[in-house]
Amino acid sequence: MSKTNTLRHLAIIMDGNGRWAKKRGKVRTQGHKVGAETVRAITTYCSTHETIKTLTLYAFSTENWKRPKMEVNFLMKLLNDYLKNELDTYMELDTRFETVGDLAPFSPKLKKTIEKTKEATKHNKKLVQVLALNYGSRDEIVRAANRVISRDEPLTEESLSAALDSPYSDIDLLIRTSGEQRLSNFLLWQLSYSEMFFTETLWPDFSPQELEEIIEQFQHRDRKFGGI
Ligand code: FPP
Repeated sequence: MSKTNTLRHLAIIMDGNGRWAKKRGKVRTQGHKVGAETVRAITTYCSTHETIKTLTLYAFSTENWKRPKMEVNFLMKLLNDYLKNELDTYMELDTRFETVGDLAPFSPKLKKTIEKTKEATKHNKKLVQVLALNYGSRDEIVRAANRVISRDEPLTEESLSAALDSPYSDIDLLIRTSGEQRLSNFLLWQLSYSEMFFTETLWPDFSPQELEEIIEQFQHRDRKFGGI
């Protein structure tokens, strides 16, 4: 039998909520609402997968503040409600909740919910679900470099990696939904050797079945890590 790749860290750029809603004559926020259900379905799938240990999801970028205030407020409330309503699910799925990104600009209420969810789930072992919130990769790298410099340590690949917001393993597989083929300032450092898949499916329609098919293809890709 030929060698298959092991998927430990999966990252997803969840894109296409607005277009999903528009296609159905609904307001954009409806797409986000259904998108939150997809988050639950995909997290559930990953928590029962044999090898996936970390799932990182791009939920809000540093650029997303440019959206209309009403949409930004909706996303903040959706996130707050999601974390509160899904706490039992995190516990049932033995899933730890973590974040990457600069949480400083979020409201005290949302920051409190985020901290409470992290605290309540911190001993869960099956999966770590990492939400990228007010996340931008260049911002993360600059903040990490400043941390290393301020400690008077030499700046090396190891010291920079350790100072990132996301001290998780390198990403094995990145998926972006909705047909766009860009990284949009997502985990640039951690994606160095990742395999990438782009699907036309809009995030609210993305399913565990499609994820399973992509994982199947990933397992048979030839990963060389710069070798031959
Ligand atoms: C991209 O679609 C999606 C976002 C910017 C937000 C992601 C949010 C969710 C999936 C729902 C809430 C998340 C959690 C964790 C509860 P878009 O609005 O850019 O879509 P478009 O490109 O079609 O306009």
